[in-house]
Amino acid sequence: MKKVFFVIIFTILVSSPSCFANEYQKLQNLKNVEILRRPKTSTVNNRKLTKGRINSAREASMQTVNVDDFGAKADGRTDDSQAFKKAWSKACSSSQQSRILIPNKTYYINPINFTGPCKSAIKLEIRGTIEAFPDTSLYEKSQRRWIFFEKVRNFEVYGGGTINGNGQVWWKISCKVKKTKPCNDKGAPTALTFYNCTNLRVTNLRIKNPQQMHMNFQSCENVEASKLTLTAPEKSPNTDGIHVTKTRNINITNSVIKTGDDCISIVDGSRKVHATGIVCGPGHGISIGSLGKNGAMDHVSNVFVNGATISGTTNGVRIKTWQGGSGYAKNIVFENVLMHNVTNPIIIDQNYCDQDKPCQHQKSAVQVKNVVYKNIRGTSASEVAMKFDCSRTVPCKGIVLQNVHLTGKAGGNAKAKCRNLKFDHRVSSISPRCPLMK
Ligand SMILES: *[C@@H]1O[C@H](CO)[C@@H](O)[C@H](O)[C@H]1NC(C)=O
Ligand SMILES: *[C@@H]1O[C@H](CO)[C@@H](O)[C@H](O)[C@H]1NC(C)=O
Ligand SMILES: *[C@@H]1O[C@H](CO)[C@@H](O)[C@H](O)[C@H]1NC(C)=O
Ligand SMILES: *[C@@H]1O[C@H](CO)[C@@H](O)[C@H](O)[C@H]1NC(C)=O
Ligand SMILES: *[C@@H]1O[C@H](CO)[C@@H](O)[C@H](O)[C@H]1NC(C)=O
Repeated sequence: MKKVFFVIIFTILVSSPSCFANEYQKLQNLKNVEILRRPKTSTVNNRKLTKGRINSAREASMQTVNVDDFGAKADGRTDDSQAFKKAWSKACSSSQQSRILIPNKTYYINPINFTGPCKSAIKLEIRGTIEAFPDTSLYEKSQRRWIFFEKVRNFEVYGGGTINGNGQVWWKISCKVKKTKPCNDKGAPTALTFYNCTNLRVTNLRIKNPQQMHMNFQSCENVEASKLTLTAPEKSPNTDGIHVTKTRNINITNSVIKTGDDCISIVDGSRKVHATGIVCGPGHGISIGSLGKNGAMDHVSNVFVNGATISGTTNGVRIKTWQGGSGYAKNIVFENVLMHNVTNPIIIDQNYCDQDKPCQHQKSAVQVKNVVYKNIRGTSASEVAMKFDCSRTVPCKGIVLQNVHLTGKAGGNAKAKCRNLKFDHRVSSISPRCPLMK
């Protein structure tokens, strides 16, 4: 696939250099300039250690803290959270670098807080499986969280293990499933939350059947999330894969997400979000938003999705905002995306309304501007492959489409629906086209 895209890009470059819109170049420049240099933490050395290379001086200065040494039972019925907490305290209070080891066994844990800042860098190696008890009453005090990391810096989580939320008991009682209930419940816990963390690396992990969202990066900075496999059934409610909120400078790479809601959702206060090598579906696709709910002023900027395969999802690449909000979603690039049987492959919805009551018409809206769609192809499961439903009062601006080819199911024609938007002039090689476009 990469080769094909490369050839396409190359062809475009050679045949029509002018079709590279200024807007796009501006965004590319932003991309290069604005990414913060990752502070020189010990990551490089750590990586070597992880790979088992000998570096005796450093190895000596790294202590291993095994949860089994703090009384973890891994017997399939005991709550091991106290042992985990003790191991964390030991590692966190030590001025020596630590690796907390969760061996390859199955541990059950209750809601748990791991709080920093710690005295030195910490690694958490999860080789085994961490399971949640399927009992909703255990979560009354935990504020919709199961495994929660707060204020941790220079932290790495890895190890090839699995985190299993055993979420079925939560899905059954979700108001999205039990339609009779008014949908105002507080919702279920997020399996893995990182809150107010800096210099974070989360890699090579599986999360399955979370109570609600798989993982949430909230108010974090400098995050690398890679080689993650997140899975929940297509019908599970609100099980977003990776939720990014108020987080700056996050790279999400080489991850597979199959779930019941957004594979990646990027919401208010997030900037410099890069997603590459994403396999998504089933699910609701890669979404920016929702933004502007209940009149909120929300801001998302500099989002780059480059390289994704999206299959059998309800949406492909989506921007969704409620009427009545303010703020912006701007400087966004979706490129090199392959869609298979996606219901709304490309969609901007400024009239998003995910509630029982119909939404009233309102004048104010979150501004959507400078959005590039480039090298996007594949099939739409619905007749409308491209939908820009923008606000009449705050139209979408600076929309760039380059080399976008979406067809209907059997390779037939698909349609574009376009309301209230301004394209950047240099539009090239697109099908379907908006009726108003020449
Ligand atoms: C975790 O910390 C929060 C406060 O940030 C508190 O409300 C919650 O009860 C704590 N959870 C546990 C399991 O200790
Ligand atoms: C844990 O053990 C199982 C069974 O021996 C093995 O298949 C798996 O690869 C191990 N996981 C890790 C992370 O070492
Ligand atoms: C993050 O932690 C710092 C240091 O404890 C604190 O000053 C700041 O208010 C926290 N930020 C958020 C968003 O909670
Ligand atoms: C994200 O990736 C870019 C290169 O694409 C790199 O320059 C940057 O340092 C990375 N940021 C983090 C937080 O890993
Ligand atoms: C395509 O998607 C539609 C709607 O989600 C689904 O009903 C259909 O089975 C899918 N077709 C294929 C070939 O996967």
